[in-house]
Amino acid sequence: MVEISDEERNVLLNLKFDDYVETMRDYAKEHNVPIIQDEGLAFLKAIVKLYKPKRILEIGCAIGYSSSMMSIYSDAEVYTIERDPIMYEQACKNIKALGLENKVHIIFKDALEITNELDGLDFDMIFIDAAKGQYTKFFQKFTTQLKDKGIVVTDNMLFHGFLDAEIHSRNLRQLVGKLKKYHEFLLTNPDYDTSIYNLGDGMALSIKK
Ligand SMILES: C[S@@+](CC[C@H](N)C(=O)[O-])C[C@H]1O[C@@H](n2cnc3c(N)ncnc32)[C@H](O)[C@@H]1O
Repeated sequence: MVEISDEERNVLLNLKFDDYVETMRDYAKEHNVPIIQDEGLAFLKAIVKLYKPKRILEIGCAIGYSSSMMSIYSDAEVYTIERDPIMYEQACKNIKALGLENKVHIIFKDALEITNELDGLDFDMIFIDAAKGQYTKFFQKFTTQLKDKGIVVTDNMLFHGFLDAEIHSRNLRQLVGKLKKYHEFLLTNPDYDTSIYNLGDGMALSIKK
């Protein structure tokens, strides 16, 4: 049998991990699953490395891509919520394949219908990346469990440039209206310091005072 060093074993394990992550990205592309963009992910990575959260809550798991990445980059335990059965199934498969089932906990439910599933847990960080029309509701519902000095990161703040575009679809116009209200809600919230960054699809960082 060929002996390999711990360092070589880690390189091989990482290669397998990276390969698997690549298959998740391919799946997302093929099935039009809107996973976080590279720039947004780099931002998320910097945030979790800097803040070192112990427990993260994510709203909008999809296939488990950003939740896996956050758990890897931070050593945090991640709770993530998903309401779509196909996404949930994929996420469970992926989290298991990556060996993260003890660190990433997926809750199969509409986030706004969560009752006692997160009882007794408080969070250092909340990542909001689900239905854009409900961002204010997500923020209000889940920040009750955010620790002091905790942070909220919100994706899609710039919504592919639609915020300043002339929009003909009524539904899209309504959605953009809700997102604009969320901007205002964050920027005028006296309990948080919020900055909005023009990277990826627009990321907001809100720090609880
Ligand atoms: C943009 S994707 C999430 C991408 C994921 N965070 C990533 O970057 O890998 C949004 C996901 O949120 C889910 N979602 C939307 N509204 C939700 C809600 N109210 N409760 C739970 N999941 C929701 C959708 O089914 C979809 O899979």
